[in-house]
Amino acid sequence: MSHKLLSVQGICAGTEDKPILHDVSMELDSKETHVLMGPNGAGKSTLGRVIMGDPTYDVTSGGIVFDGEDITDQAADKRSLAGIFLSYQAPVEVPGVPLYSYLRTITQKRPELKMTARKFRNRVGEIAEQLDMDSSFLTRELNVGFSGGEKKKIEMLQLLLLRPKLAILDETDSGLDVDALSVVSRGIEAYRSECDGALLIITHNTRILERLTVDRTHVMVQGRLVAEGPGSLIDDIDAHGFVQFERASEDGGAA
Ligand SMILES: Nc1ncnc2c1ncn2[C@@H]1O[C@H](COP(=O)(O)OP(=O)(O)O)[C@@H](O)[C@H]1O
Ligand SMILES: [Mg+2]
Repeated sequence: MSHKLLSVQGICAGTEDKPILHDVSMELDSKETHVLMGPNGAGKSTLGRVIMGDPTYDVTSGGIVFDGEDITDQAADKRSLAGIFLSYQAPVEVPGVPLYSYLRTITQKRPELKMTARKFRNRVGEIAEQLDMDSSFLTRELNVGFSGGEKKKIEMLQLLLLRPKLAILDETDSGLDVDALSVVSRGIEAYRSECDGALLIITHNTRILERLTVDRTHVMVQGRLVAEGPGSLIDDIDAHGFVQFERASEDGGAA
């Protein structure tokens, strides 16, 4: 039976005292690139985290099916093993753990990625080169003292190493200079062509999307998906902003 890679079905979610997402539904197929846009505070990051299984948020109704399996109640590490990857807006720093060891550990947890230490070293070297990344990064502690752009390169490295089925990239473009942005774009392109993966790109600016073919665009305002359309919807948003959708949301959040 054929099924969508990801199916978010009428999700309502929030923290204990604050509902954030209201009846959010979205479908995404293998190898597709979707973009989730919306003004600050709309709930975009929350949706990414809810799909990843962040325990900060409670899902009060609706469900999530990934690769044919209901994952609504699954823990984040299970979802990660199943092939979901989330890049955080602000990656955590892990003092005392060198990046290289960290990468080796997360790769070894995955049977499908098992490789010899030598092969692993070569693969990491290959990706680092592809991303124009200084190899001295690898011996440094995870994310400690790295600039925003460098942290994003590390995320791209993880993405290309782990080869998830679905990568959710949350504001991967924010705070990046032009060079770092081009590295991230290259990383995304490599992920699409080499890993055959699907992408959900969360952003409120469209610069990173210029070189990507986008299959579907979703617009979120005040915790609701208020519009969905082809990739060209991004140009419309570029020209007119989110105001048009904000009005729709005030009128009752019509889909
Ligand atoms: N852990 C949390 N605790 C309380 N409020 C939160 C939490 N996470 C998100 N929110 C609130 O939910 C709303 C949506 O946030 P967020 O998903 O980060 O928006 P976006 O990514 O679209 O800018 C905001 O009002 C934010 O303050
Ligand atoms: Mg956000």
